[in-house]
Amino acid sequence: MNELKTRAIVLAAGKATRFKTKKSKVLFNICGRTMILYPLKALESLGIPTTVIVGYQAEEVKQEVQDAQINQVTFVEQLDQQGTGHAVACSADTWDQENILVMSGDTPLVTSEHLRSLIFRHQEAQAAITFVTTMVMDPTGYGRVIEEDGLMQIIEEKDCSDQQRRVIRVNAGIYVFSREFLEKNITKLAKSPVTGEIYLVDLIKMAGDSGLAVQALSVPFDDVRGVNTLQELWEVEQIKRSELIKHWMLRGVRFELAQSIHLDIDIEIGAGSFIGTGVHLLRGTKIGEECFLGAFSILANSQVGDGSTVHSHSVIQDSSIGCNVHVGPFARIRENGVIGDNAEIGNFVEVKNSTIGDKSKAKHLSYIGDAHIGSQVNIGAGTITCNYDGARKYKTIIEDNVFVGSNNTLVAPLHIGKESYTAAGSIITKDVPSESLAIGRARQENKIGYARELREKLASQKDLANEDDDLSFNFRGAVKTKSDHKEHA
Ligand code: UD1
Ligand code: CA
Repeated sequence: MNELKTRAIVLAAGKATRFKTKKSKVLFNICGRTMILYPLKALESLGIPTTVIVGYQAEEVKQEVQDAQINQVTFVEQLDQQGTGHAVACSADTWDQENILVMSGDTPLVTSEHLRSLIFRHQEAQAAITFVTTMVMDPTGYGRVIEEDGLMQIIEEKDCSDQQRRVIRVNAGIYVFSREFLEKNITKLAKSPVTGEIYLVDLIKMAGDSGLAVQALSVPFDDVRGVNTLQELWEVEQIKRSELIKHWMLRGVRFELAQSIHLDIDIEIGAGSFIGTGVHLLRGTKIGEECFLGAFSILANSQVGDGSTVHSHSVIQDSSIGCNVHVGPFARIRENGVIGDNAEIGNFVEVKNSTIGDKSKAKHLSYIGDAHIGSQVNIGAGTITCNYDGARKYKTIIEDNVFVGSNNTLVAPLHIGKESYTAAGSIITKDVPSESLAIGRARQENKIGYARELREKLASQKDLANEDDDLSFNFRGAVKTKSDHKEHA
């Protein structure tokens, strides 16, 4: 259904020379979403079928759009980039609606409301062209809107006279054309004598000269900022990010130092949560209500349940944390870590592809990989699952209420039955049945009175060493001989 009787053409073939990067500018991220997906999602929300003009890095751009599974998108390749007029001409075979909306792929902040208003304005006025203008104090890089005797035209910066360059009303690069007008006139566009490019904007003067209606819709500059340089990318991202932060503030989220937070577009944060300085909440992350995220933690594609605390400097990726859990400081949970309610994952603990049951604890210096740990299990400090033999990964299963002593080496595959204990410092290589105590360590021996004998032995060894060796080291590691010391004394 396309009530707006509109097809969109999104221009994304340009080489982005001003970015000075190898990667096409439309593939850069803005708050966790690729630039090209911003206009495409706005158009999708209006039900408008869209043609994307690709050229530079065409395959990468197509792949990115396809991966996002946006509805009703087709691609046309512009083999040599001869300007925006040429780009639109390449898409003529896809003009299947009354209105043809053309916009740049580098104008990510435009809203679907603006696009809808533009189409309505166009339809009401029965115009040949309706386009978006804006005012900007520094119009550098934009085509200027020049109006003389009621006739509008757009003059590109490079083609402007000094006087025209001072005009602050500029073209935003978003237009609706009547298909009929476009079909008749697009082939009449000529190359700019200055740049050799074929400018789409020249159609505006052409329409006015033939006495056809041309309409302009004015919108705030921030909504239609173009992105031609990495600096403009940063500016646009700042605007988008502060919009997102304001959005969550209005929903009861406290940001300790809002300007330091890195927030992506596809995330959620529950009311009453506290987000500490420098926290990154990246794509796909969902934070529950009344959570506390300490400074400089990074969460990507992960869920945190209500009432949980992530202390500072923790990194959580592709994982899920239950309710009332404590994580960190300095914890790392990754690749499908699943932490149950009321569990505690403490400092310098890494959890990878493992499930940790409710109320279980691993509070200090551990590696838990490919493990399934039941509820109310205690993992002692310094415990490590040895899940990898250099070729394959193996699982460790620890049932409910097990107590793993400190500094255990758990050699997988391994199964520890419920209610069991393992002694501190054990290397556990065999399965442990339920309700057992496993001890796997060298037995200690005390040699009574041996200390004196040992001291004498060590002292005689030291005398021998001093005779042999005329070298000593100062605290910076520079080598000095003993005779050097004497000279300076
Ligand atoms: C364009 C407008 C300018 C307007 C500005 C608004 C023209 C001639 N100028 O300038 O009036 O103020 O946008 O942001 O239209 N592209 C292609 N094929 C090409 C050339 C460009 O697909 O052969 C694409 C680019 O990838 C880009 C878009 O068209 O997404 C606009 O091109 P760009 O070079 O950025 O135009 P501007 O100089 O910004
Ligand atoms: Ca541009």
